[in-house]
Amino acid sequence: NDGDDLGLTGVTAGQVRRTSKLAIVGAGAVGSTMAYAALMRGAARSVALYDINKAKVEAEALDLGHGIQFMPMAEVVGSDDIEVCTGADVVVVTAGAKQKPGQSRIDLAEATISLVGKILPPLVEVAPDAVYIMVTNPVDIVTYAALQQSGLPPTQMFGSGTVLDSSRLRYLIAKQTGVAVQNVHAYVAGEHGDTELPLWSSATIGAVPLLEWNGINGRGPLTSEVRDGIAREVVESAYRIIEGKGATNYAVALAGSRIIEAVIKDEQRILPVSSLLDGYHGIRDVCLSVPALVGREGVGERLEVPMSADELAGLRRSAETLRAVARRFGF
Ligand code: LAC
Repeated sequence: NDGDDLGLTGVTAGQVRRTSKLAIVGAGAVGSTMAYAALMRGAARSVALYDINKAKVEAEALDLGHGIQFMPMAEVVGSDDIEVCTGADVVVVTAGAKQKPGQSRIDLAEATISLVGKILPPLVEVAPDAVYIMVTNPVDIVTYAALQQSGLPPTQMFGSGTVLDSSRLRYLIAKQTGVAVQNVHAYVAGEHGDTELPLWSSATIGAVPLLEWNGINGRGPLTSEVRDGIAREVVESAYRIIEGKGATNYAVALAGSRIIEAVIKDEQRILPVSSLLDGYHGIRDVCLSVPALVGREGVGERLEVPMSADELAGLRRSAETLRAVARRFGF
């Protein structure tokens, strides 16, 4: 599809290395749904679920295993013994406190930083060569802290970042314009959270710059009022879903599977993952999302996306917010 860099193109079992192993830490709503999404997409030949709740993790693995007949060939195991993650190619960390209605992701920081700090050393011991994808919120802070706690190189560990938020942005633009979401090419950058920002100036619909879009089929252009409304709705999405069903899980699991596939298939996909910046547009020493290449080695080059002065200022504000929170917790 045109510019479809968040699309979930199918992955045939044959295209996945026979020994590809995905380990997911945390068998809650996000972790178990991500295991389901990855299995249904044939993202890995072997999926290991780890959680301290033995009954839950074994039940999730069994329930998934009963469906193997209906998915690309795979095996699924679940255990409360971290050894189950041994030799994984990709480790996804979803374990952490759940965001309650009205709570911000940053409110979870203290609980999740210490939890992840405890899990990482035994994890890295059994899977030293894995690419680590942090999903636990606040994902930018957790990734920044986990890099320091684990000592892993900043290519080998990154966060799911705003891959999900960019998908929400495209969904809303598609709904507004009547164009297929696969033909909407737009990124959300910055924090996976309240200070994130849509990069309107580089967005396109088909081959048309979004800011020059005049509309089709009787639907008008995306005025600044419409764009502001969409930007607000992207930020508010998770709060709204958590209010209604207690957690988000489907879209974040599909976004996670997209990232997992990019690593396991070495796709060199451009995805807005949260990585440690070292001078990007002058921003350094903070983890936040900008479009970057994702492949077998983890996160690679970040794209120097052209930004308006407002977008650059917004990205810097997001970086400042995240750095202040990280400092609050001693990182
Ligand atoms: C969300 C959670 C994953 O945005 O932070 O749905």
